[in-house]
Amino acid sequence: MSAQQRITELRKELDRLNHAYYVENSPLASDYDYDMMMKELEKLESEHPEFDDPLSPSHRVGSDITKGFTQVAHVRPMLSLGNTYSVEEVDDWIRRCNDLLGNLEGLKSVPIVGEMKFDGTSISLIYENGRLVRAVTRGDGEKGDDVTENVKTIRSIPLVLQGSGYPQSFEIRGEIVLPWKAFDRLNEERAFNEEPLFANPRNAAAGTLKMQNSAEVSRRGLDAYFYYLISDELPADNHYDNMIAARSWGFKVSNLMTLMDSIEEVDGFITRLDRERKELPVATDGLVFKVNSLRQQLNLGYTSKSPRWAIAYKFSAERALTRLRFVSFEVGRMGVITPVANLEPVLLSGTIVKRASLHNEDIVKTLGIHEHDMLYVEKGGEIIPKITGVDEAAREEGAMPIKFVTHCPDCGTSLVRIPGEAAWLCPNKYGCRPQIIGRLEHYVGRHAMDIDGVGEENAALLYDAGLVRNIADFYILQASDLEQLDRIGPRSAQRILEG
Ligand code: IVH
Repeated sequence: MSAQQRITELRKELDRLNHAYYVENSPLASDYDYDMMMKELEKLESEHPEFDDPLSPSHRVGSDITKGFTQVAHVRPMLSLGNTYSVEEVDDWIRRCNDLLGNLEGLKSVPIVGEMKFDGTSISLIYENGRLVRAVTRGDGEKGDDVTENVKTIRSIPLVLQGSGYPQSFEIRGEIVLPWKAFDRLNEERAFNEEPLFANPRNAAAGTLKMQNSAEVSRRGLDAYFYYLISDELPADNHYDNMIAARSWGFKVSNLMTLMDSIEEVDGFITRLDRERKELPVATDGLVFKVNSLRQQLNLGYTSKSPRWAIAYKFSAERALTRLRFVSFEVGRMGVITPVANLEPVLLSGTIVKRASLHNEDIVKTLGIHEHDMLYVEKGGEIIPKITGVDEAAREEGAMPIKFVTHCPDCGTSLVRIPGEAAWLCPNKYGCRPQIIGRLEHYVGRHAMDIDGVGEENAALLYDAGLVRNIADFYILQASDLEQLDRIGPRSAQRILEG
């Protein structure tokens, strides 16, 4: 077999394994076999640059030299959807569609497709001859940014289509999302590096897609679901079958998509999905209903902003009211002071919330929080609880507004505010305990030296015992130093020294 044939064969096989793993969630090969094939492909490609293909599965890892984004006009504008907030409003919309279409069948409604409304950032992909040629963000709806290089790193997006029967040229629209797991991992990392956290997976997905470094995009683990196919040569005359066809070409189309033909079925779908969405691996903020027949879609047409043939149903954000016990001020590794609301414990979407970050002084001021206020806490599908408001009517008489501290709660040094930034800092870098411990923890932690056995908790222990005051001290630790500590036995002392 020639090198060129082998390259083609490996690309096909790797694309197939990728699809099984990232779209079907059913791996067909071990990680080891996959890695071996990828290595072989990479080797052949580097020996034969003449057979390079920008859509080769070996390019999914991205690069750190993505240039700025060029603006591209959408062939058809990317519209938004009208919103509804109750089952009644959805039912009214279905009746209106039936009336406008002159459907007099009584019990039966015109067929309606129900789908999840994925909470990410929308994307338009263009394929020609079965190959991805361009990926463009929604932008202002008329034109968006060409983010092809970043989108190519998303493993569940087919670069070269599978199956057959796809139009020679088509556009497919969908939502790029950051699954909960990847979102939590990213925020954990950012918290550790004292970088601002993403408020929700939607912001994280949108931010990630616009990064200038596609290698970092590749690492973050974006995913994508597709929900709208546009072409002059569509395979079917209805939305549902078109999406099933798109699925057969390799796109991730949610298997929660359901075809229905009565209002009762739609109502049942809403009740069922409002429950099931909590178990999904990605954030959703509602449902979308679409008239299935493309002919009927055409007849219903559009308003200036959105199609009449589709509507969104928004889930209500979960909200609780609870009392503020006190605001604590916490000192990070970089000296940044973060105000934290300590709350009377309250149950919110299945977890007990006791604390919520207030982020900075400006947010405390904007919310106008007073001592012992009753606060609204929300978790609109987001994992991090957020204070969204104050019940002013429930304020205790004489309660004073929360004042931001002027001195470090730990070492007492006067705080400084960097001009133009919301954060207050404790400038006592080398004398403030939480800052020193924070740096020691960071140094031994898994994102830095990853020293076996020391662990992040032990850093505080060693510091408080006077054994480690700075990073250099780690390297002169003796077994006898460690064994004098109650919480460290001879075995762990040995591990620390080896580490
Ligand atoms: S259909 C012309 N279906 O919601 C109709 N949109 O508020 C095009 N979205 O910009 C949209 N899940 O980013 C559709 N299953 C779904 C969706 C969905 C999420 C987003 C999309 C759109 C926004 C509209």
